[in-house]
Amino acid sequence: MERISQKYRPKVFEEVIGQDLVVRTLINAIKTKRISSGYLFAGPRGTGKTTLARIFAKALNCENLLNDYEPCNQCQNCLEINQGKFLDLIEIDAATHRGIDQIREIKEAIRFAPTTGRYKVWILDEAHMLTIEASNALLKTLEEPPSHAILILATTDPRKLPETIISRCQIFEFKRLNLSQIQKRLELIAKNEEIEITPEASFSIALASEGAMRDAESITERIFSLGVKKIDEKILEKYLGWISFQKIDEFFDLFLNKKTDLALSFINKIYENGNDLDYFLVYFLNYLRNLYFLKINSNLEKIISFSLPSEQIKIFLKKRNLVSLETLKKMIELFLRAKRELKISPLPLLPIEMAIIESCHVF
Ligand SMILES: Nc1ncnc2c1ncn2[C@@H]1O[C@H](COP(=O)(O)OP(=O)(O)OP(=O)(O)O)[C@@H](O)[C@H]1O
Ligand SMILES: [Mg+2]
Ligand SMILES: [Zn+2]
Repeated sequence: MERISQKYRPKVFEEVIGQDLVVRTLINAIKTKRISSGYLFAGPRGTGKTTLARIFAKALNCENLLNDYEPCNQCQNCLEINQGKFLDLIEIDAATHRGIDQIREIKEAIRFAPTTGRYKVWILDEAHMLTIEASNALLKTLEEPPSHAILILATTDPRKLPETIISRCQIFEFKRLNLSQIQKRLELIAKNEEIEITPEASFSIALASEGAMRDAESITERIFSLGVKKIDEKILEKYLGWISFQKIDEFFDLFLNKKTDLALSFINKIYENGNDLDYFLVYFLNYLRNLYFLKINSNLEKIISFSLPSEQIKIFLKKRNLVSLETLKKMIELFLRAKRELKISPLPLLPIEMAIIESCHVF
């Protein structure tokens, strides 16, 4: 089976989700034919850097642009780029090819005119991983590139790149995708694959993927591969060890009812069942966060700019009257601390148990 992340990698600008400013600027460059020789695509993993670098390379070399900017995906050059065998698009992973030899190769090859295309494009992934030597060589290349050559550096960590390199590139900042963007995309993919996904499930996956579309897709792929026809919270719990919204809500009720002992046994049971404690904390913190914002302003969606499943909103609206802002704030602090300590604690449950006990004091 073709991987979801490959099958659904956008092939035209139009298909890219979010990154509006980046997309608009790149389209404009194509339209006005004002092309720089160095680009820096910086931002979190799985948000479209490689994808857009390829679309841009395609648009630069397409023989049949649609609307003067969109690659046709039908001409020889477009097809070859999509198949990864276009001679004038060279992708180098700097994480595995960190040394000076790679950059020397670029320096040699850059002088020659493109083989079939108009532009020769290098995509240098994880550019911050280059050795200092290699970076210096790269700098020379960026200083006086021939007009047919374009270098696109992609990195998740631009602060590790030398200032001298950054200053020679046009910089594009990629953003994390928001929850509803990821949710919508997942729903579209599921529909295409003829698999049903509930809004609660797509929401949970979006939450777990922390703004990276690739992560959301690979989680979804894991579940697809089980051969299920419907993805809901039960499936996520059964196969990924995630906790459903309903369970999280029940957990919160234990605090409202001052049932410290039950809250402790709840979390112990979750642990024994092999559920994912990290995911549990993220989901519970998000629950507290939503309540907290709702206390401040009932127009939750305007503040945090994503749409919750409507069933959840109803529950939050009821719950917010039962707890004070001060209590919520304290609880968030306590569980944030538990989240931080989860990884380093010799007893994984202990930080959460402490947070539970201390939370019960503030209710
Ligand atoms: N903005 C986006 N719109 C639509 N799909 C996206 C977007 N970003 C990522 N994806 C999906 O995630 C996959 C991986 O994206 P991509 O390779 O472009 O990420 P990246 O930013 O280069 O990540 P990395 O820093 O890990 O290299 C794509 O094949 C695509 O399916
Ligand atoms: Mg990439
Ligand atoms: Zn084309």
